[in-house]
Amino acid sequence: MNQEVDPNRIVIFDTTLRDGEQCPGASMNLREKLEVARQLTRLGVDVIEAGFPISSVGDFEAVQAIAREIQGPIIAGLARCIDKDIDRAAEAIEGNPRPRIHAFLATSEIHRQFKLRMARPEIIRRAVAGVERARSYVSDVEFSPEDASRTEPEFLAEVVQAVIDAGATTVNIPDTVGYALPSKFGDLIKYLFDHVNGIERAIISVHCHNDLGLAVANSLAAIEAGARQVECTINGLGERAGNASLEEIAMAIKTRHDHFTVHTDIKTEEIVRTSKLVSHLTGMVVQRNKAIVGQNAFAHEAGIHQDGLLKERSTYEIIDPASVGWTQTELVLGKHSGRHAFRARLEHLGYQLDEEEIQKAFIQFKALADKKKLIYDEDLIALAEHGMSEIPETYTLDYLSATSGAGVVPTATVRLKKSNADLQQDAACGDGPVDAALNTIERITGVEGRLVEYSIRSVTMGKDALGEVSLKARFAGNDRLIPGKAASTDIIEASAKAYLHAINRFLYEAEHPIRQPKDQAATGTTP
Ligand code: KIV
Ligand code: ZN
Repeated sequence: MNQEVDPNRIVIFDTTLRDGEQCPGASMNLREKLEVARQLTRLGVDVIEAGFPISSVGDFEAVQAIAREIQGPIIAGLARCIDKDIDRAAEAIEGNPRPRIHAFLATSEIHRQFKLRMARPEIIRRAVAGVERARSYVSDVEFSPEDASRTEPEFLAEVVQAVIDAGATTVNIPDTVGYALPSKFGDLIKYLFDHVNGIERAIISVHCHNDLGLAVANSLAAIEAGARQVECTINGLGERAGNASLEEIAMAIKTRHDHFTVHTDIKTEEIVRTSKLVSHLTGMVVQRNKAIVGQNAFAHEAGIHQDGLLKERSTYEIIDPASVGWTQTELVLGKHSGRHAFRARLEHLGYQLDEEEIQKAFIQFKALADKKKLIYDEDLIALAEHGMSEIPETYTLDYLSATSGAGVVPTATVRLKKSNADLQQDAACGDGPVDAALNTIERITGVEGRLVEYSIRSVTMGKDALGEVSLKARFAGNDRLIPGKAASTDIIEASAKAYLHAINRFLYEAEHPIRQPKDQAATGTTP
């Protein structure tokens, strides 16, 4: 096995920034991706898959920025087995002390026949050529036979053999469509160990999707069968039903150390913080009863459970909540706190804001402290994230008044400030006060959209809690779901600001389009 030190160490390969970000509506800007990469480093992941550099200029720039700044974990860039993909990935990760190129090519009959129109020998030829080209740039090369779990095992073994002989140092076995069952997937990994000569020269990895809700179970079965790298995402983020959840895998291994002989280097106390950061930045709300990181994961309602817990925690809790980073919501700052304490607390929470952003967030903090006596960490996170947005604020909310009630036609008056322009004011009616405010914003900006998702949650407890609105909208002439988010003690104001946030992003992206390579569909889709 190609693991220098410990054969029982599981390499945690995080793909939140690549496969996770492929989840519709979860896209992050460069600044946000860097923030996530820094937090993943604190969490102790071994590999950060930072993106798919050929897929867009934005992805390339994000991978490059991460490779230039992040030290510690391996930084991987994804590429199809196509020369220009591999060259672009190599260019993006250049300069990082631990660069990896992750090349992939589908191998299953269904993909060979319908997507690639390639026979088996051609697949092997291209896979080998891709690995060799990647090896001409870096010594750390991973190869993934896409849709491996639906590939004929003997052909899969042939591919794995060929890419290891060509120099792949990690071979990843993806369950691309989440079709595998734990015992069968474990058997497939064992089959590879039994049928590939020299398999110990590479680390065998797995990458499981959650279409049947089995991604974590399949990953654990593969570990039992000898896999030593797992690919996963924070909160199980990812396309369709998502990827295997990093926190669930790490905690299953740690909690059931009586069963597993393996371990990870994940600093589990960073799990909740990482989960919250990813959820805030992507707008993907974590379901309340999600294992480990859901709000209810450690909430005990039944009297009999509460009684047991008070007598002995282990009666009903298999994990100490503090060990994954759940702390009592901390009261941190108040009206009289200064900039210094404000900045220090944000840094403690993992946010590195520049001077201008600190200033902007601090002004909002003071305004919030006037309305709300107690300021909690979650309030600060909401402020920091708003202050961190990279999208220029073409429009900002200057004034909002909304009326509604029984027998009243909901109406809103809105005044917006357009950058380098005068204030513009208008009024409109709607089904309710939020609808009225959003309609008025559309009249002023001339941007028409359709709200596809809208959710509101209370950031902390108490009647004066900040309400955080997360929404996704589709604007005329653009298919993409654009996210918007804002927080305020007034939920109509939070809704209006979240909608403006999405409009500003839409206007910015209209001027800075995400360019896709022309032939992406011809030689295989995005993974
Ligand atoms: O799901 C998949 O097959 C992938 C590969 C690129 C690893 O994401
Ligand atoms: Zn995937």
